[in-house]
Amino acid sequence: MDGNGRWAKLRNLPRTAGHRRGVEAVRETVKGAVELGIAYLTLYGFSSENWNRPPPEVDDLMGLLRFYLSSEIAELHRQGVRLRSIGDRARLAPDIVRLIEEAEERTRENVRLNLTIALSYGGRNEILRAMRMIAGDVAAGRLRPGDVDEAALEQRLFTTGLPDPDLVIRTSGEQRISNFLLWQSAYSELVFDDCLWPDFGRENLRRAVEEYQRRERRYGTAVG
Ligand code: IPE
Ligand code: MG
Repeated sequence: MDGNGRWAKLRNLPRTAGHRRGVEAVRETVKGAVELGIAYLTLYGFSSENWNRPPPEVDDLMGLLRFYLSSEIAELHRQGVRLRSIGDRARLAPDIVRLIEEAEERTRENVRLNLTIALSYGGRNEILRAMRMIAGDVAAGRLRPGDVDEAALEQRLFTTGLPDPDLVIRTSGEQRISNFLLWQSAYSELVFDDCLWPDFGRENLRRAVEEYQRRERRYGTAVG
C-alpha cells in the first residue's frame, strides 16, 4: 500500500489525510477480496523501516491502526474474515498488541478470508529471526545442521501456516519489493499499479487478478 503521502500532497492536504483515506481503501479492498473469493490477503501496513519516519507521522499511523483495529473488528468478523498480524510485536505499543491478540482470538474460526496485516514487519528481519532460532536449536542439539531445510525455516517465519503469495500488488508506480515477504514471494507474480493507495479499490484489485490470470507461472521450468 503505497502513495498515501503523494495523494495528500496532490490535494495540498497533510499526509495524515492521505493515511485516513488509505484506511478507507483497505476497507474497500477487503470487501473486494471477499467478493472475488480470494482466500488470503496480506496488507503491508507498516514496515520495520517506517519506524524511521518523523515521530508525529508514526504516532498518527499508530493512532489509525488503533482506530482500525477497534472499530473494524465487528464488521470483519461479520464478513467471515480471520485476522492475523505478522511482524515484530515487541516494537508495538502494548495496547495495540492487545487489540491484535483480541482480534486474532475473536476471528480465529472464520474461514471466508484470511486477512494478514504486516505491522512493524521486515522480510530480512523475519529471516534473521528464524535463523537465530535455528542456530539456537542447533547449538542446543535439538536440530542437526543437515536437517535445516526450507520447511525448518518456514516453520520459524511469521507466516508459518500461510501459503506463499501467488500475486503481489504494489501501488503508486514504484517498482520495488521494499522488504515485503522476501522468502515467501520467491515465485510470486508482481503487478504494479500506478494508482495511489487511497484511490485503490475493488476495481483495481479485480484488474490485478485478471493480469495475474494472463500470466504463465513456470517455477523455473521450461516454456510449455
Ligand atoms: C503508504 O503511503 C502508507 C505507509 C507506508 C504507512 P506513504 O506514506 O508511503 O506515501 P508516499 O510514498 O509518501 O506517497
Ligand atoms: Mg511510500
